[in-house]
Amino acid sequence: MLDAAIIGLGWWGKILTQTLSASSKIRVMRLFDVDAVAGQAFAADHGVRFAEGFEEILEDDAVGAVILATPHSLHEQQIIAAARAGKHVFCEKPLCLDRASAVRALDAVREAGVRIAIGHERRFEPPIMRAASLMREGQLGAPMHIEGNFSHDIFTALDAGNWRMNSSESPAGGLTATLIHLMDLSISLFGQPEQVRASCECHGGVVTNGDTLSAHVRFVGGRTATLNALTHTPFFSRFAIFGSEGWAEVRDKAHVQTPEGWFLTTCFKDGKPSTEEFAAATPVLSNLEAFADAVAGTAPYPNTPEQMTMNVSLLEAIVKSNASGRVEEVER
Ligand SMILES: NC(=O)c1ccc[n+]([C@@H]2O[C@H](COP(=O)([O-])OP(=O)(O)OC[C@H]3O[C@@H](n4cnc5c(N)ncnc54)[C@H](O)[C@@H]3O)[C@@H](O)[C@H]2O)c1
Repeated sequence: MLDAAIIGLGWWGKILTQTLSASSKIRVMRLFDVDAVAGQAFAADHGVRFAEGFEEILEDDAVGAVILATPHSLHEQQIIAAARAGKHVFCEKPLCLDRASAVRALDAVREAGVRIAIGHERRFEPPIMRAASLMREGQLGAPMHIEGNFSHDIFTALDAGNWRMNSSESPAGGLTATLIHLMDLSISLFGQPEQVRASCECHGGVVTNGDTLSAHVRFVGGRTATLNALTHTPFFSRFAIFGSEGWAEVRDKAHVQTPEGWFLTTCFKDGKPSTEEFAAATPVLSNLEAFADAVAGTAPYPNTPEQMTMNVSLLEAIVKSNASGRVEEVER
């Protein structure tokens, strides 16, 4: 059993705490948030000790891992502090906001000899795993292109001062909220991104840092992906892989905070599209438990530090391209 502390008890920190109550691999034994009043009340409701500060958690030898669910600009310094204190780290996405920051954080992790994991639970969705296997096993033929769209209107309820509306904390609309998951999936399938052209506009007038983001990514070797994230439209989620012999498309019924299941449609050369329904599953828990397995040494964690760095480099290039209006290189 991995004893962990969760830092940041907003929307996602609460979901992670509740999710881990069903885990046989991770026990949440400390909680912390700078909002002590709300944090203490949440901790009391869940029967978990609330810490006075992050330092207290870092000094506690009983804590084996920290799980970071804090605003993005805090991730680098919190990863470094946790790693130097000998704690394994599960960090919510994005790892960091630029490549240099990700490199510093991952260097600290490597030097400390601890494990790092990231909140890209979509890799653990059963229909995504099936579609990825179809591609990797060659059943789609030569892999050619990815189309992804992960959109919702959850943030239209936030007030204008929320950090998610702030372009330095949350640049280019849905980039760090939802597009980052599609970028991660694309990297897991197509590898190193090389160039990107991105555009982010605000049409709905509420999510002021942008509500309509689209990116065209070219990977080394010439495969491509068109990825979209709208933050002012009802929930929509689709991920499709196209190959020379067939295609596979995953559609989600609901946001991952309350999974309701998926549809996987496949079509192979000379055949007709066929749709299979997948029951609800718990990818957030699967991801956290894959982290615990990596810490225990029973299985490697599937998202490597190299892939995490590629994703932050792509994030940085998307921000650059949106500002410049040009195709930008993804730093390697
Ligand atoms: N994996 C997913 O699907 C998913 C979904 C939603 C959010 N997230 C990620 O989770 C993280 C948090 O997002 P959120 O929506 O919960 O944000 P939020 O604003 O709801 O919560 C953030 C919390 O962090 C606390 N906080 C701020 N500074 C802190 C500090 N120095 N130390 C401790 N706590 C501090 C705030 O008080 C707040 O309670 C982000 O990285 C976000 O991208 C991931």
